[in-house]
Formats: sequence, structure tokens, C-alpha cells
Amino acid sequence: MEKKTEKIWIRGGRLVDPANGIDEVCDLLLEDGVVKKAGKIESGTETADARVIHAEGKVIMPGFVDLHVHLREPGFEYKETIETGTKAAAHGGVTTICPMPNTNPVIDSAEAVKDLLKRAEHAPVHVLPVGAVTKGQAGKELADIKGMKEAGIVALSEDGKSVMDTLLFRRALKEAKKYDLPMLSHCEDKPLVDGGVMNQGKKSEELSLPGITNAVEDVIVARDILMSKETGNRLHLCHCSTADSVRLIRFAKEQGLPVTGEVCPHHFTMSDEEITEDHGRFKMNPPLRSREDVQALREGLKDGIMDVISTDHAPHGAEEKNQSMKLAPFGIVGLETSFALGYTELVKSGLLTLSGLVEKMSVNPAKVLGIEKGNLAPGRAADLVIAELDTEYEIDPDTFFSKGKNTPFAGKKVYGKILMTIVDGRVVYEEKH
Ligand code: DOR
Ligand code: ZN
Ligand code: ZN
Repeated sequence: MEKKTEKIWIRGGRLVDPANGIDEVCDLLLEDGVVKKAGKIESGTETADARVIHAEGKVIMPGFVDLHVHLREPGFEYKETIETGTKAAAHGGVTTICPMPNTNPVIDSAEAVKDLLKRAEHAPVHVLPVGAVTKGQAGKELADIKGMKEAGIVALSEDGKSVMDTLLFRRALKEAKKYDLPMLSHCEDKPLVDGGVMNQGKKSEELSLPGITNAVEDVIVARDILMSKETGNRLHLCHCSTADSVRLIRFAKEQGLPVTGEVCPHHFTMSDEEITEDHGRFKMNPPLRSREDVQALREGLKDGIMDVISTDHAPHGAEEKNQSMKLAPFGIVGLETSFALGYTELVKSGLLTLSGLVEKMSVNPAKVLGIEKGNLAPGRAADLVIAELDTEYEIDPDTFFSKGKNTPFAGKKVYGKILMTIVDGRVVYEEKH
């Protein structure tokens, strides 16, 4: 991260800062990389030399914290690099990202973590690595959890798969507890997938494609919750897509277990009924589910059962994705559309307040990691975004900074545009006119 910061005076914006119970028009002064002052700020000595940003009619929010992205470097730089992925984050208003370890080599050792952090040294946003649970994500022996923690990981995950050996997973949770690391679980019973490429249902039958049943996810969600109960370690359930995942997380919360649930924008926006053809842009893991599942996820977000919105930003090459679902890899990009989808689908529809959305995108993910983000009180890091809410526009993958253009949302009309992203008091993205 570059150290140079500006003095910035943001005037007249609507500050939405749920961590401090604030949703009101005010001014902000940023200096030395932190929020210096929030409230009514008049022109005077304290604003001298400040860059003035007129935010009248705009909203100011703590930068988003995305617990779930794939940067692809090292190993798959044709899909994404740390540079393109972190620029995409800045473009999407995401000021902190957690890259998943399924790179080549896998992030499973202290050396690999150090290498990743070195590569991300000059990234425009904060990059907090996630370490693999097992060596090479092979599911056979535990990775060097202690070494990775010392090198800087903030969580563990075997993302892309589950640790299918429950005994090994229990040992991983115990180790994670020792080093105070949350477990981010990708819940998928591998053998049960049985060749499926999309949600099992009427649509998969119509397209004659092999289906993925809800139980593929649900049996591991249940197992992981029970293992969290047994070990006492923090468990965060990634990209939940089914109604029963929501029910199981409710069950866990009713018992006071340290369990949190995550939903991705595509899973609360689109059901399998909207898949118009057998094309790779509709393929991700877990898949787009039924309308009932989508509704249950929305209700779960509203009721506070589902705590976090993150993207599972999964860039792939155009040729790989421009194939039938049987051939294309799983995954869609998400960093540059998450706020717009959250605002359009959840806030404009009346399901959440804007504060409620900011809780799911900034405050709660920071809590999962136990980091001091998602809070714009004076003295806190000046990681924030300025957005415009009133103008409808179309999602256009040609505007993405990500190498990945693989999204089913091209052409979708949305509201909520990021105009500026600031990290540690430095402007890292600014809309060009
Ligand atoms: O859709 C997905 N893509 N789901 C995953 O779990 C992995 C990810 C990837 O790495 O492409
Ligand atoms: Zn996953
Ligand atoms: Zn993922």
C-alpha cells in the first residue's frame, strides 16, 4: 500500500455508518489516512489545503469488505491478476478483500502467504489472505496453520471444495481455534455432486443437464455446524444457496453457536428459472437455485440470519466460459456489480435499509474477521466509498477492470453506482466523466 495520503474534505453527503448508528447528511475530513472529523465542518484552518469533494445528493459508506474473492495469481494469471482483481475491487467500492487459496501453488504454507502479500504490496485495496485447510487442498493432511497465521492469514478455507474427511476437518477446526482463525466453509459433498452442472429441477430437465441437488450443500452445512458446536470454533458458511442452509443457520444461532452465514448477490438476485440457455455464464458453484430458495435467502438476510454479502468473484477466460455448462468451469465475477445488485434487489425493493445493506457488506464481514473495518468513527482508517443511487444504468462487462467478463448480469438495469473509492485516505478509484 502506498503511504502518500491527501487531506480530503467531503462536503454535504449522506453518511451511512451503521456501526455508529449514523444515517444523516454531514461533512467528513480525512487526514493522515484516517477519519479526522465527522459532522458540520466549516471552511477554516482545518480545511486549508484540503481537496474538496462535493458529495451533495450522494451517499458515503464505509468501504465494503469482501470475504470471498478469487484473484487467480499465482498460477492462473490469464483469468485475473492481483493487479486487475484489486483494481476491480476498488471500482466496486470494495476496500478490503480476502483472496481464496485455490491458486497454483495453493496458499498452504507461510512462504506462499508471504509471496502473496509481497505481490499485493502495491495493491490499491487491502488484501488479507485466506490459507488452505489442507496441503495442496488435497484433503489428506493439514496445512501449516500456525506458520500461515504468523505470515498473515486472517482465516482458513478449502474453498472450491469441502474437507470431506470429517475427522480431519475436526482437527482443522481445533487448530483454527488455537490460532483464532474463522473457518470459511465451502459446503459441498463432492461425491453427491455426481456430475451435476446446475440446480436439479425443472430447468435442468428442460435443458437435459445433470443436476446438483440441494442436499449436496445442506448435508455439509449441517455437518460443519455440528463440528463447530463440538469444537467451539468460529464457522462462516460461504455462498449459502438453499432454504435449508438458512434453516440450519437459524438452528445454529438459536443455540448460540459461533456461526455466520454468507449470501452472494447472484443467489439472491436470480433463480434457475431465469437461465435462458445452456451457457457457461450461468454456471457457478453452488448453482442458481429455485425461486423458493432465492426467497428464503432474501428472508434470511432480512431477518438477520444471514449476516454477510460477499461475491465469490470467480473470473475465468472468455473462451472457457463461452461453452455449454457441461464444459465451462464454475464461477462468475462479482466485485464490480455487488453493490448495485445489493442496492437494487434488497434496498430498492424495501427488504433492507441502506444501513442494513452496509452492515452486510462492511460491518459484519469485518466482525467475522475481527478486524477494525466497516466503521467511520473519527480515528478509524479512511476506507470509504461515495456512491450515487438515483440514476438507472445497465451493467456492462466492458467497463469492468477485472479480466473476467463472465457474468449473467450483462445488460441488467440497476441502481447504485460507485463514484469514488478511498483507501487509507487515498483515492484509489474515481469515476471518469
Ligand atoms: O463458482 C465457483 N468458482 N465456486 C467455487 O467454489 C470456486 C470458484 C472458482 O475458484 O472458480
Ligand atoms: Zn466456494
Ligand atoms: Zn469461491
